[in-house]
Amino acid sequence: NEIKIFSPATVANVSCGFDVMGFCLDSVGDEMVIRKTDKKGIHITHIEGFDLPYETEKNVSGVSALAMYNDLDLDFGFEIEIYKKIKPGSGIGSSAASAVGSVFGMNELLGRPYSKTQLTEFAIKGEALASKCEHADNLAPAMFGGFALVKSVSPLEILEIPSPLELYATIIHPQIEIKTSESRALLPKQVKLEHAITQWANFGSLVHGLHTNNYELIGKSLKDVIVEPHRSKLIPHFDEVTKAAINAGALGSGISGSGPSIFSLSKGEETANNVKDTIEKIYSKTGIAYDMHVSKIN
Ligand code: HSE
Repeated sequence: NEIKIFSPATVANVSCGFDVMGFCLDSVGDEMVIRKTDKKGIHITHIEGFDLPYETEKNVSGVSALAMYNDLDLDFGFEIEIYKKIKPGSGIGSSAASAVGSVFGMNELLGRPYSKTQLTEFAIKGEALASKCEHADNLAPAMFGGFALVKSVSPLEILEIPSPLELYATIIHPQIEIKTSESRALLPKQVKLEHAITQWANFGSLVHGLHTNNYELIGKSLKDVIVEPHRSKLIPHFDEVTKAAINAGALGSGISGSGPSIFSLSKGEETANNVKDTIEKIYSKTGIAYDMHVSKIN
């Protein structure tokens, strides 16, 4: 009647795949407990870690849970406890982890009536509360694991992309908050054709590199000529960090989701840890608080 789950953090966009690509981190995530209760409806009974609303309709986990609950005809309800570890506004899919966790847990307790894609559709409703837009590039990897490509949102179609075994991510999270809704608002509505050409060449190459375990190609493809030039200005020491990461052996780097976190991909855990140490040397001198993670992509 009760399930405890780990709902992972994710990196959206992966440089050239704005709004369509993401990957899942296996070492950072929220914990949640979902419980069946006689009282009908969705009830958030405990929140720890960050100050988030208890009202179901105002809480990301609550909204996605309600979307699923309203699709069912049950004579009982669910309680949700949230142990939030991923800071909201950190750029590693905090809202997606909340949105995915509740519906995933409820589905398990009900004997899995829904597919992962159907669950992601409910979770989109929760994500939209936080980012004011229906995108699934954090939700899909949080739900499916590994790399996930959102082929289309309506109808929702998600492709699982293989993750090379030795691929590791290093994440630095400077403790400043960038709201996804705000960092979307500053993007131009139109892109130049020459930029679009570069971007889809890189994106196709990234997907090819992931399928063929071509680490060098993955690194060369991690470029974003459309979104990053606008958003990187909001992130202190972005250029310095990404250059240092490459010098330390990373394949490439970019903004994680809408920032302020920065991700780097490396071949092998040792290199990913070197990248961490190098970035830490830069950030420890800035006076800006930060935390860092190294994670396999799983
Ligand atoms: N693709 C989204 C964006 C992810 O970059 O705005 C936000 O989490």
